[in-house]
Amino acid sequence: MSHTTHPQGTISPEQAAVEQELVDTVVASFEKAGDPRLKQIMQSLTRHLHNFVREVRLTEDEWNTGIEFLTAAGHITDDKRQEFILLSDVLGLSMQTIAINNQAYTGTAPATEATVFGPFFVDDAPEIPIGGDIAGGAAGQPCWVEGTITDTSGNPVPGARIEVWEADEDGFYDVQYTDARVAGRAHLFADDNGNYAFWGLTPTPYPIPHDGPVGKMLEATRRSPVRASHLHFMVTAPGLRTLVTHIFVAGDPQIETGDSVFGVKNSLIKKFEPQPANAPTPDGRDLGDQTWARTRFDVVLAPANA
Ligand code: BEZ
Ligand code: FE
Repeated sequence: MSHTTHPQGTISPEQAAVEQELVDTVVASFEKAGDPRLKQIMQSLTRHLHNFVREVRLTEDEWNTGIEFLTAAGHITDDKRQEFILLSDVLGLSMQTIAINNQAYTGTAPATEATVFGPFFVDDAPEIPIGGDIAGGAAGQPCWVEGTITDTSGNPVPGARIEVWEADEDGFYDVQYTDARVAGRAHLFADDNGNYAFWGLTPTPYPIPHDGPVGKMLEATRRSPVRASHLHFMVTAPGLRTLVTHIFVAGDPQIETGDSVFGVKNSLIKKFEPQPANAPTPDGRDLGDQTWARTRFDVVLAPANA
């Protein structure tokens, strides 16, 4: 009599049949779902969840630990803290969903790659003119960021809306402080030639919120909560696919160590060129004896229906 081998031992054909019968019954229970897509998702979810539980031979204690974990994630979640998205992020599920929904698109030029949205975007960030400063008092080394927005045929996209946001040098976004400051974020519009430029801050590494159940899971599995240094962008223009992405800092050791949410893509790693104190700035801004940096990020937007 043949036995099925699992990582934690073997099970008899009778046991395998009992388990499979339950899978089949649950899958069949969704057969009458009116919406065919809902039916497909629920049946597939059932198969994968049961396969997971069967493959690892989940104990009842482990099932309980999982329920407690999800309960804690629910309890810490509110309109500012979203532990379930964080969980999706650290499991790579967010990046996988992004990969599926933003497939590589190339016209004359390849469209810029997307990455995770993260929890720190807010609507209604202040508008700045081209060359303006997003810091709003946030601490950090000034960084000149410039580039063009084009479509995949190489045409400039005048008026493209560019949202940018980032953490300060202590690794905190404005919304993580309790004083309602608005800092390290803004939006601006590309000029008639699709060009944009602004002063931001040279990004530094910082941890994702790790004081909740997701943080505990990372600790238990000896994973770091730290993200590679980055600057967030969201670029929108009529008729073109909205791009949510970041740029990362070439040479940041955290890129090698591993970004905690798997967001790094090679095409998004940019040189941030350090500039000595008193080096002339592109717009004549007087930074006193502060050092600064500069980088270039040319954005290529795919067609909306790509
Ligand atoms: C962030 O980019 O700030 C971020 C992304 C995913 C999870 C947590 C933070
Ligand atoms: Fe971030």
